Amino acid sequence: MRLAGKTCFVTGGASGLGEAMVRRFVAEGAEVVIADIDRDGGEALAADLGAAARFISLDVREEEQWLAAYAICERVDVLVNNAGITTLGSIEEVTLAELRHEFDIDVIGVFLGCKHVIPKMRQPATAARGGSIINLSSMCGVRAQGNLVAYNAAKAAVGHITKSCALHFAERGYGIRCNSIHPGAIHTPIIDKVLAQSDDPQALLASFVASHPIGRLGTPDEIAAVAVYLASDESGFTTGAEFRIDGGSTL
Ligand SMILES: NC(=O)c1ccc[n+]([C@@H]2O[C@H](COP(=O)([O-])OP(=O)(O)OC[C@H]3O[C@@H](n4cnc5c(N)ncnc54)[C@H](O)[C@@H]3O)[C@@H](O)[C@H]2O)c1
Repeated sequence: MRLAGKTCFVTGGASGLGEAMVRRFVAEGAEVVIADIDRDGGEALAADLGAAARFISLDVREEEQWLAAYAICERVDVLVNNAGITTLGSIEEVTLAELRHEFDIDVIGVFLGCKHVIPKMRQPATAARGGSIINLSSMCGVRAQGNLVAYNAAKAAVGHITKSCALHFAERGYGIRCNSIHPGAIHTPIIDKVLAQSDDPQALLASFVASHPIGRLGTPDEIAAVAVYLASDESGFTTGAEFRIDGGSTL
């Protein structure tokens, strides 16, 4: 029960890594808000988990929706900015509209989530509790790949938003920590969507595996385990850190 008494707000919580984190957080004693555009998936997961979980409809691109979602949360101790998409393509292939769409979800969404959670988390407003923000970047935010120009750029931005927030919160004494997780390829629906965009999905999947020195893709639970640590008080001295959970890919 490492998260007993905490309320965790997980964007993109209806699927993939978000769902794995939601399930682990509840198992560790937290109350969880599943915030997603996927109402059917989010409500089904909340129903499966019972009283410890509830669904809130949220499109992370929309500032008014963030304000409305936070307004109905009595407290937020942990924010996981997990909602994201992956746009496949090189600088020659990706259109400006695709780049803007990628940035709207993966960068603007993270920016808005961090910005508006501050009043919910900072110590004077929350009886000296503070909080933890966990942003999902990617190994692509550390090491670029030629066929992922929009995604690389968006995830690099997430890493620096994280560090900028971590410094600001520490300097102001807000008691809010902010860290990023950089997964390697983890088999979730987002990977299936990337494979579906490819002319040769089998070859692309084989190349994903080959790029991981550990010789396999990761599992959602291996990301959720790190998120539990960052959400818990065990990580009290950890802020601005990049957690590369990528089977050695970025070494
Ligand atoms: N799976 C991987 O290999 C991998 C690797 C590195 C980083 N990541 C990152 O981890 C995060 C989760 O990825 P995943 O693999 O679980 O993907 P996923 O596609 O399974 O889940 C993404 C979730 O985000 C939600 N979402 C999409 N757009 C949204 C929006 N505008 N507002 C609110 N919710 C929205 C979707 O409905 C879905 O539930 C993403 O940020 C992704 O970039 C994933």
